[in-house]
Order: sequence, then C-alpha cells, then structure tokens
Amino acid sequence: MQAQKATEIEQNPYRADFPALAQEISGKPLAYLDSAASAQQPAAVIDAVARYSREDHANVHRGVHTLSHRATDAYEGARDKLVGFINANSRSEIVFTKGTTEGINLVAQSFVRPKLSPGDRIVITQMEHHANIVPWQIVCEQTGAELLVAPIDDTGTLDTAALYELLDERVKIVGVGHVSNALGTINPVAEIIERCHAQDIPVLIDGAQGVPHSAVDVQALGCDFYAFSGHKMYGPTGTGVLYAREVLLDAMPPYQGGGDMILEVRFDGTVYNELPYKFEAGTPNISGFVGLGAAVDYLEAIGLDEVSRMEASLLAYMTEQLSAIDGMRLIGTAANKASVQSFLIDDIHPSDIGTLLDQQGIAVRTGHHCAMPVMQFFEVPGTARASLGLYNTRDDVDQLVDGLQVARRLFS
Ligand SMILES: Cc1ncc(COP(=O)(O)O)c(C=O)c1O
Repeated sequence: MQAQKATEIEQNPYRADFPALAQEISGKPLAYLDSAASAQQPAAVIDAVARYSREDHANVHRGVHTLSHRATDAYEGARDKLVGFINANSRSEIVFTKGTTEGINLVAQSFVRPKLSPGDRIVITQMEHHANIVPWQIVCEQTGAELLVAPIDDTGTLDTAALYELLDERVKIVGVGHVSNALGTINPVAEIIERCHAQDIPVLIDGAQGVPHSAVDVQALGCDFYAFSGHKMYGPTGTGVLYAREVLLDAMPPYQGGGDMILEVRFDGTVYNELPYKFEAGTPNISGFVGLGAAVDYLEAIGLDEVSRMEASLLAYMTEQLSAIDGMRLIGTAANKASVQSFLIDDIHPSDIGTLLDQQGIAVRTGHHCAMPVMQFFEVPGTARASLGLYNTRDDVDQLVDGLQVARRLFS
C-alpha cells in the first residue's frame, strides 16, 4: 500500500473512500478502470458488512431473539433504502436477487414463460449482455417462441425505428439494456417503454450499467421490470434487485420454492408468502444486503447527478486522449454514452493489451465482455475496455494512455 497521490485526492474527493485504490500493482499506483465488471467498495460498505457480521448476525424473519430481530431490521432496512433509491412504489416491488442475471431469469421463467406459445416473440437488441439474451433463448426453446433482435449501427447506437417495426401483438416482452456494458451506449429507455406500452407490450430494462451512473426513477420511466446488481454500484457481490410493478409480481407464480417464500405448507397444498417474499426462497445473502444498503447511503450522500457529471467529464477526457493514440480504433462511439470505452490498437490482441497494462498497474477488461453478438457485429475477437467509476481521475486516464503507448512500442 502507499499513500494516495495528492493530485488524485485533489481531483476527486471520493477516491480516498475506497481502500483498495490505495495500493500499488506491479510497483505502480493502481489505475482501476474495470468498474463495469465490478466496482470497488467504499470503506462505508466494507465496515457495514463487518459490523453486521461481528455484532448482529443471525437468520432473518423467523427468530424471536435479539440478534434475529437486529438482522431482520438491517436486511429489511436495506430494502427500504432500495425503494427510495429507484423510487419504487413500495417494498413489495423490491425483490432481492443474486444480481441482474437472476432477476432476468426470474422474469423469463415466471412472467413470460406462462404467456408464450409457438409463434410468439421476444424482442431484444444487438447490444445486450448475455444475461439479457440467454434467459430469453432458454424460454424460447421451452415454448417454441422466437427471439428477435433490433439492430445497432456502426457507432453502437440502437436503431429504435427498426425496434419499433418489430412490435406487434405477437411480442410478449421487450428486453433492453439501459446502458451497454460493451459499448457504453445509453439507450432511450423512456421512449422505448412508451412505444411498447402504446401496444400493451411489457418492458424489462437491464439496469446493471444504469443504476451506478445516473439517477433512476422507475415510476418516471414507467418500466415493468428493472434488474440490477449490487456489485456494480459499490456494494457486495451476490446481491441484486429485481424491481417489478406490484400488479405484475402479484400475478406471477414463484420462481423457486423453499423456506421463507411460504405462509403455510401442507402435503395437500402450500400457501405462498406475500410480496416480495414469494420470490425470495431460502436464506438470503443477509450481510450482502446490509452492505448494499450502505452503498445506497454512500451514493445518495454524493448524489447520482454529481456522479453522472464527474463521469461524463472524465469520459470525454478519456475519449479525447485515447483518440489521439496512433492506430487506435474506438468501438462504441454513440452520441449518448456513459463511462465505458472499448478499443483496439493496431492489430495487438486485446488480451496482450490487458496483460501489458496490468504490468503497469492498470486494470482494464479484455475479451468479449459477455456480449459476443456485439463482437460479431463489429467483426472483432474482443476489445480492451476501460470503464469508469466515481473514484477515477485524470491521472488514471493518463496512466492508461502512457501504458498504451508502451504497448504500441513493444508490439511495433
Ligand atoms: C449490462 C449487463 N447486464 C447484465 C450483467 C450481469 O450482471 P451480474 O453478473 O451481476 O448478474 C452485466 C454484468 O456485467 C451487465 O454489464
């Protein structure tokens, strides 16, 4: 570990909140540019989990003893925070999950599958993460429905006109990413929801890359489902939220069976629990959600508008600096973007770029970013991707650019 550079603290007052960022990797200050994969956690989150584990841990909901009450209060308190964070109507609409992936699978199996017949359709886009592709492919295989894909253009912008062309009475759900993890494109989700609702088509938003970077108001968006992950918004891994409108959740059958999701079990029939517990079978990741609650507090204290503003300014700087490197090919140049830049340089393989950067203390992700259809569209094996969190600084970007110059010299 080393003391953080004074300039970094001056550039970004929040950086010092993240203990992991104070270390050196390969003898260089860590430039962590992989937040789209998983964001670092502030001390406030780490400490909340540790405090809970040291003092309050017990199983939730069923206990009469003090620790069980404390654990339940902490866990359910986190749910209350999540209600406010995305402006849901009530606690019933906040289903705790393992992450975005589980939320989308839940909707595919519990909401969509019972509605599908051969010939029905599900619409997604070319830029989706595998988590918003494969659950729909599975449900299509199970039912004989068809998966349709709305195209993107060479900048990575969604062709919304082509998406709207696909909408008709055969479409049972539209699934769209709020922000593309591979391209950084921000999709016009409010407009898409409005157009789909005009034809009575429900919409799921994959918000994994949405909630960490901008304020999300699910009521203002009007979406039916919004799924996101705790570990991308500075919380613990293994936590996530599926927001769904109460009227929809009420009508959906449980996704998994087990303890906690029931009111009464008899061999001649089981009565399911009320919302949202009907969808939360088994002992949950209690400490993780305590940490997620602390992450919400942390983000709200800064304000998502402030986070968006800082990240937009740094993204503009990073794009400008990367563009100036000879042999640079930026992948994902849509007009409306957030916090992610994918790229290739000359014909250097992305994994070589990533390895050389790691040797200089810079963490970027390389490969297909769980978005193989995006790579197929751009006809590349993968990309290197630098993604920003609220703690990044111009120093991180400068370190990246210097590191890429070293990589170019070594490979030329
Ligand atoms: C856009 C998007 N959707 C879904 C996911 C899946 O999230 P998780 O692995 O936390 O379930 C990710 C993770 O990278 C993502 O970026």
